[in-house]
Amino acid sequence: MAQGKYKRVLLKLSGEALAGEGKSGINTSVLAQIADDVAEAVALGVEMGIVIGGGNIFRGVAASAQGMDRASSDYMGMLATCINALALQDALEKKGLATRVQSAIEMAEIAEPYIRRKAMRHLEKGRIVIFAAGTGNPYFTTDTAAALRAMEINADVILKATKVDGVFDKDPMKHPEANKFEQLTYIEVLQKGLKVMDSTAISLCMDNALPIVIFNLTESGNIARAISGEKIGTTVYQT
Ligand code: GTP
Repeated sequence: MAQGKYKRVLLKLSGEALAGEGKSGINTSVLAQIADDVAEAVALGVEMGIVIGGGNIFRGVAASAQGMDRASSDYMGMLATCINALALQDALEKKGLATRVQSAIEMAEIAEPYIRRKAMRHLEKGRIVIFAAGTGNPYFTTDTAAALRAMEINADVILKATKVDGVFDKDPMKHPEANKFEQLTYIEVLQKGLKVMDSTAISLCMDNALPIVIFNLTESGNIARAISGEKIGTTVYQT
């Protein structure tokens, strides 16, 4: 069996990834495809935590831009991540994978509370831990939650799934001539204002030398490729 390059990874999925072409809601066939990709990746023997966003259901930042109180809209966004976490859990379990959902906001009837040491034990036992409700705090993104949880569980890398092949100097959806970066340092990301993750998340990764691989989720098999150490997407790391 092929071996993974990493022992433990944190996969960051955006909420929009679950929506497919639709941009909103949950597309069950897209979800099943993601579950297949995750199953292929964990078969390499890697331990995996997943942080999922909620933008397919509710975008806190967009709502606050329209006048809603920022903290309230962020809490609504956190609840959206819980819906996605349960949908993802269902899809992964249908593929025979053992999973646990842990929420940063207590909702004991629906999910386990986030307890770091319990999350570590689940991972050691080969369960995929889905971290819901972001960091549990408004004003933080799910990218920051991914960086934080990755650090807490001692992940070797953050795998950030996107809709494009990596990080480009311009938006590749609008500019076909855009150039992809193979590698970047954290400082380059911050200085160039590249939209890899928000600056809080990047700073957290930089301070702890945690590499980030940004890759295209819509290409089937890419999670396993990233875990095998194949050169895909863009890697952000410390020189
Ligand atoms: P270990 O036995 O410690 O290896 O882990 P386990 O997760 O199998 O045991 P536990 O008895 O803690 O959990 C059994 C099931 O109940 C799992 O599906 C958990 O996700 C779930 N569970 C545990 N705690 C909670 C909770 O506070 N709320 C909810 N909703 N489910 C929980």
